[in-house]
Amino acid sequence: MFEGKTILTGVKPTGTPHLGNYLGAIKPAIKLGQEAIANGGKQYMFIADYHAINAEKNPEILSEKLKEIACIYLAGGLDPNKSYFYRQSDIPEIPEITTILYAYTPKGFMNKAHAYKAAVDKNRAAGKPDDDGINMGLYTYPTLMAADIVAYDTDIVPVGKDQIQHVEIARDIAGSINAHYNKELLHLPEYYVDEHVAVVPGIDGRKMSKSYGNVIPLFEDDKSIKKAIFSIKTDSRPMEEPKDPEEILVYQIYKAVATDAQIQEMGDGLRQGKLGYGHIKNMLLDAVVNEIKDAREKYNYYMAHFSEVEGMLEEGAAKARPVAQATLKRLKDAVFGR
Ligand code: TRP
Repeated sequence: MFEGKTILTGVKPTGTPHLGNYLGAIKPAIKLGQEAIANGGKQYMFIADYHAINAEKNPEILSEKLKEIACIYLAGGLDPNKSYFYRQSDIPEIPEITTILYAYTPKGFMNKAHAYKAAVDKNRAAGKPDDDGINMGLYTYPTLMAADIVAYDTDIVPVGKDQIQHVEIARDIAGSINAHYNKELLHLPEYYVDEHVAVVPGIDGRKMSKSYGNVIPLFEDDKSIKKAIFSIKTDSRPMEEPKDPEEILVYQIYKAVATDAQIQEMGDGLRQGKLGYGHIKNMLLDAVVNEIKDAREKYNYYMAHFSEVEGMLEEGAAKARPVAQATLKRLKDAVFGR
């Protein structure tokens, strides 16, 4: 899949990723890039720190989150030598391209963009004025994202469903520029939603999400992971009572981390009344720890030696910049008739 294609992923350094993010987004993104690279394609993976400042104004928090995200991707197997791994803010051509794209971005697109609309809805629900606390960075978010994408002649942008609209906006803006100058100045991107990735339920059965407070932490010590796993909701049925595994939350989470044989074993044990809730929680704990232990070691190493990571990000930016520079030049030549 994706032979010869350029794949681009941006991640906002906000929040601390949990097990659900790792299994459902981070690992699949790394894997997709590896597949593309193995088939003659390219992977751009960057940290969207300009996007993060719309919501986070504290520099200590911003730099800490950036550090965590960078180390998580490296721990998860991203190869900085084979991919383009960089910080958005290290590529000054991105805001320059954004400025040109603004002239081709209908304001109505921004009014309809999800991130902005969600903020307005939240204000309305709280009885506040529509634009309360909304800055221009949030409002014009999709245009900056479009610049991120078109700068590198991206073919494919892997996204979660919430980001589809943003990629469509990027495609529309690029399409109107091409149409205006009657030239393929910008490559038109496509979004890609992977339907096979794990959706990991949280410890209360809703989707695992920091805002629900139902997460299993990632790369913390075994004790914190154990604490989360042992608070997974169960009922008071005795062990001997045969159970349908699909109704058991521990089993559903297990499916995202265990091997097929392990899943079968837990399923059989539940159906036959041979495994109790304590047993299956311990099985889940072992599987989670086993899944993350190597990555956790790498993560702790990079967090403690961040200057190495800093060097990788700088090299990544040095590799990525000439591509963005070429795009900017194409645009400026066309726009200003140079
Ligand atoms: N908007 C994305 C998010 O919230 C982050 C992002 C910024 C991005 N620029 C991008 C994603 C370009 C893909 C491509 O997760």
